[in-house]
Parts: sequence; structure tokens; C-alpha cells
Amino acid sequence: MKHQPIEGFSKLSKQKKIDWLVSTYLEGNQQYTDILQQYWNDNADLQKLHEEFSENTISNFYMPYGIAPNFLIDGELKAIPMAVEESSVVAAASKSAKFWLDKGGFRTTVINEKKLGHTHFTFNGESVKLQSFFNHILKQRLFDDTEDITKNMRSRGGGILDIELVDKTAQMQDYYQIKASFNTKDSMGANFINSCLEQFGKTLKKEVELSDKFTQEEKDSLRVIMNILSNFTPDCIVRAEVSCKIEDLIDDSGIAPEEFAWKFKQAVNIAEIEPYRATTHNKGIMNGVDAVVIATGNDFRATEACAHTYASKDGRYTSLTHCSTDNGIFRFWLDLPISVGVVGGLTNLHPLVKFSLALLGKPSATELMSIIAVSGLAQNFAALRSLVTTGIQKGHMKMHLFNILNQFGATEAEKQHFVNYFKDKTVSHHEVIAELEKLRNK
Ligand code: MEV
Repeated sequence: MKHQPIEGFSKLSKQKKIDWLVSTYLEGNQQYTDILQQYWNDNADLQKLHEEFSENTISNFYMPYGIAPNFLIDGELKAIPMAVEESSVVAAASKSAKFWLDKGGFRTTVINEKKLGHTHFTFNGESVKLQSFFNHILKQRLFDDTEDITKNMRSRGGGILDIELVDKTAQMQDYYQIKASFNTKDSMGANFINSCLEQFGKTLKKEVELSDKFTQEEKDSLRVIMNILSNFTPDCIVRAEVSCKIEDLIDDSGIAPEEFAWKFKQAVNIAEIEPYRATTHNKGIMNGVDAVVIATGNDFRATEACAHTYASKDGRYTSLTHCSTDNGIFRFWLDLPISVGVVGGLTNLHPLVKFSLALLGKPSATELMSIIAVSGLAQNFAALRSLVTTGIQKGHMKMHLFNILNQFGATEAEKQHFVNYFKDKTVSHHEVIAELEKLRNK
């Protein structure tokens, strides 16, 4: 082994952590210390705030924070904040927003907002007896024992919606669940749900122990395995949609509206039946979704996991968006399961998250669900629009041009030259290099 493990890394100061890393892995090269320190914020309080979001923090990792304006959503004009590192995502969102601005904009419907969690346990005994015990005794006790935990949430109109016992023994020996549904109002609710579930686990064990309905063997067989929320929220769904007359689908590539509608619908249908395409298609949707999820301080890993499970809920991975072209009307929509919060978590702490929520007019959690779904739909519209007309590289490489030029340390004057140079041409990596060489050898 080249390096030795370190004891107590978390207890070292930030500078000592860096010193150890640089001397152990980076041959003591000062340049690496400089990189890390360069990203420290001069404002000591702000720096400390960021350090305390996580553990073993040694620097900050910046992401571009951009704005996609002109989104008409349910009759309100919004400027959407997006934190994303991929070039062309914000530009694509803005382009879609503009396209739909004079066509009624985006409409959304929150279909439901139920979140789920489970106490997973094993029990080797009579299933019917367990079900009867659950119906007559346990269910009420689970509500009673969580009253303190749910008090605040209930006063805000949320709380535990229902609790059921699920027999999973056909899939796994002795396996049962207490499955609960929750309304967590404006919070994402992970801590609330997990606290309720951990109490369920304790109450379950205690009540079975106290009951005279079970044999000692049955009582001993009851083992709580774990209590945890599910990030799969198929009953927390928002629909975002756009529609217009097919004849109004005027694209600047010059494609005829009927041809555009037909190709666009074909592209969606391909993603509906072909998982290879569906993965990329949905990735494009998540470009828009995650950028807003991050900018508003929500959990993009949960959002991703949920969306992809939902996309495969019928046994085959498929598109999250759909399209119809009936009776001369083009309709395009996204059903997105998503659980987000506008209180708790980072929302009151991270200054840019506060800014994002203020910019969006301090939305409720359901309003934020709508905005995020619109961002996903807009992104997918932009991608498919390019794919069925000019191809994706034209717009993508135009936005990527500055990344290539920055790699070669281009000056502002050189950048301006390239903007003009590629005005009517598709940017390619090799052409940038060739032209840059020519320019610099002049
Ligand atoms: C790139 O990040 C996303 C796209 O590939 C999505 C798509 O193909 O639909 C452009």
C-alpha cells in the first residue's frame, strides 16, 4: 500500500486537512493548496456556513447559477433560477419559454401530494391474526404514539394520512410492512416521516410484546428490520403541459409545422418504446428538473431516483413525456413525481436558495413542483425541437464554444472573433483549434 490510513482526519483544522492531503497525495505541490484556498469565500461567516453544510469541508465547489426568463406558468410570468454546469441547458430553457410565451404558456396541475414510508419487519406466524391485531389495536396505537411528532404538522394541515399492513410473504419469507402515507405540506418531510416511522417500529414491537393474541414464538419472530421513507412517490405527481394549433408550430429552421409536429411526436413515441432512447430523453428532462431542484436547495438525488423508478413502473423503462397531435392540436406533457420542500433543510440557510425562492415569489411546495416540472418539460421540448430539425450539435457547440476557448486561454478579442466566425456555422472542436492557430500565427 502506497499510503497509510489517517486517524482523526475529521478533527484536523481545515488547513491541516489540506496540508495532509497535499503532502500525502500531491507531492506537497503548493499549487494545489492555492486552488483550494482560491475558492474560500472572503466573508468568513459565509465560508463557515458553507463548511457546516457538510463534513470534512476543505473548499467550495462552485456551479454556475443562471436565470431562464419569460416562463409563462399558469398565467404568471416567472424567471427561473437554474444551477447547472452543462452549457446550453439555461439557453435551451429560455428558448422554450420564449416559444410558448405567445401560445398560452405552460399549464400545470398538481395531481396529488402523498408521500410514503415503511416499517419493514419480519414475522413468522399467522398472517390473519397479525392483520386482525393491526386493524383492531395496532393502527390506532401507531397514530397515538406519534401524536407528539405529528402535532406541528397537523396544525399546518398535514400529518399521517393512512397506515396499512402489507403482507409481502409471497415475495420474501416472513416479510411484512407497515406502509404509511403522509402529507408534509411545504416541507419535503424526510425527517418528519422518518421520525414517525421509527416510532412505528418501536410501537409495533412493544404492542406485539404486550398482546395476549400471540404465542411467545410469534412474538420472538417479530423483528423490525428498518424504518425509512420511500423516495418513490408515485402519488406525489405534477403534470406540466403545453398545447397549440399545429399550424402555429413555426420553427426558425423553416420546417413546415405539420412536418415538425409529426417528427416531434415520432421522437416522443420512440422514447416511449425504446429504453436506449428513453434514458437520454429523460436525462434531458432531468437537466431542467435538477437545475431548479439544486437552485432551490432540494435533493436532486431523490428527484432522480424517483423519476427513473416512475419511468419504469410498468415493467419497462419509458419516456416521462408524452405527445398527441389530434384534431389539429399539438399537445405535449410531462407527468413528474417529485417531492420537494420550501421550508426546512437548506431553504432558510443557503443565501442563494433564499434568493431563488424569493425570486419565484416564495412558492408553496406544490407551486415549486409545478415550476420544476415546467423546467423539465421546457428542456425536453428544446432538445426534441433541435433533434428533429437542425440536430443537437449546432446549438450545443455554440454554447460550448466558450469552454473550448477558455481551455486555450483565449482573450476577449479572440472570443469575439469566434462568435462572428461561427455565426452561420456549426462549431466543431477541430475547427476552433485550426482557426485559433491561424489567428495567433497572423
Ligand atoms: C444533453 O444533456 C441532453 C440531450 O441529449 C437530451 C435528448 O437527447 O433528448 C440533448
